[in-house]
Amino acid sequence: MEKSRVSKADFFTLVEQCVEKVEERMRIRSNEYHPELQAALEHLTSSGGKRIRPIVTLLTGEMLGAENERLITLAAAIELLHTATLVHDDLIDGSLLRRGIPTINARWSPAATVLAGDFIFARAAMFAAETNSIEVMRLFAQTLATIVSGEITQLFARRGEVMRDEYFKRIYAKTASMFVLAAKSAALISPVGEDIFAKLHTYGYEIGMAFQIVDDVLDFTGEQATVGKPVANDLRQGLVTLPAIYYYEIYPDDLDMASVLEGVFQNEQKLSRLAESIRNSDAIGFAIAEAEKYVERALTALEGLPDNPHRQALESLAEYVIDRNI
Ligand code: IPE
Ligand code: IPE
Ligand code: MG
Ligand code: MG
Repeated sequence: MEKSRVSKADFFTLVEQCVEKVEERMRIRSNEYHPELQAALEHLTSSGGKRIRPIVTLLTGEMLGAENERLITLAAAIELLHTATLVHDDLIDGSLLRRGIPTINARWSPAATVLAGDFIFARAAMFAAETNSIEVMRLFAQTLATIVSGEITQLFARRGEVMRDEYFKRIYAKTASMFVLAAKSAALISPVGEDIFAKLHTYGYEIGMAFQIVDDVLDFTGEQATVGKPVANDLRQGLVTLPAIYYYEIYPDDLDMASVLEGVFQNEQKLSRLAESIRNSDAIGFAIAEAEKYVERALTALEGLPDNPHRQALESLAEYVIDRNI
């Protein structure tokens, strides 16, 4: 990929202190719950992560004049929701590494992992309720339903379907919907009207779609040591993502691809050969170009919003979604 145009600092500095408060809020300070649950939450909270969703929430809310404490609670709810989906996602995918450290399912039984995820979902809902906004609660619940539906679609579609439309629907559900939540919910607790909600909805949708496309590209091009999670994993799971879809469009007669589409994911030699072919093909550039189109539309959605440093940071964040290598 090309050299980066933006770095995280371009949008992070403005909200750095707020992010610290968000992380503080995500932790539990009482002994109300089983110590293992508290330990799991601590393990997850201290493992870092880009915090991209709460940063979207904080920048949006600050741009639009939301009250600070409420915004921090909302951002904590959103990062916890994201964290809970990762706990379940890693169990579903059988992934043993995330953010460079072992996942919950690497150490615990599936049953305990499911419960740990549920616990974090519940903590997220508690914070969402603390915003005292029925609209936020409603969007929060709708988003969770959409994500679960997206994950189950992916699970049941693991026979290598190669329809672009299906792919875009699936990544909206599993990923972009949460970016919509991150941006729009901040608008919902700000002193602004419907037209602004719609712009933030679009911004969240567009960067969320781009974000997942880039995640899917990084699954082919990234290094495990950099991204902190196993790479070249999607094909192995029989998951056909945008780079593979484009590759198939360019090389409809590729025999390795045909095997994957027929449901042969176990042949390591074919898989690594196919992954290598995809990595070296134009499919990667095509996928990035598609992600860039989403980012362009995200930038357009920001037009007409208050022109302040927070808006500029949201612009940089949208560009970072493409430029990131982690
Ligand atoms: C990973 O999200 C899950 C996807 C939707 C691709 P992130 O890449 O934001 O994960 P962290 O929070 O930075 O670890
Ligand atoms: C994760 O998508 C989406 C959700 C967590 C709902 P991926 O499966 O692509 O995410 P990674 O690659 O494991 O982070
Ligand atoms: Mg996964
Ligand atoms: Mg992925």
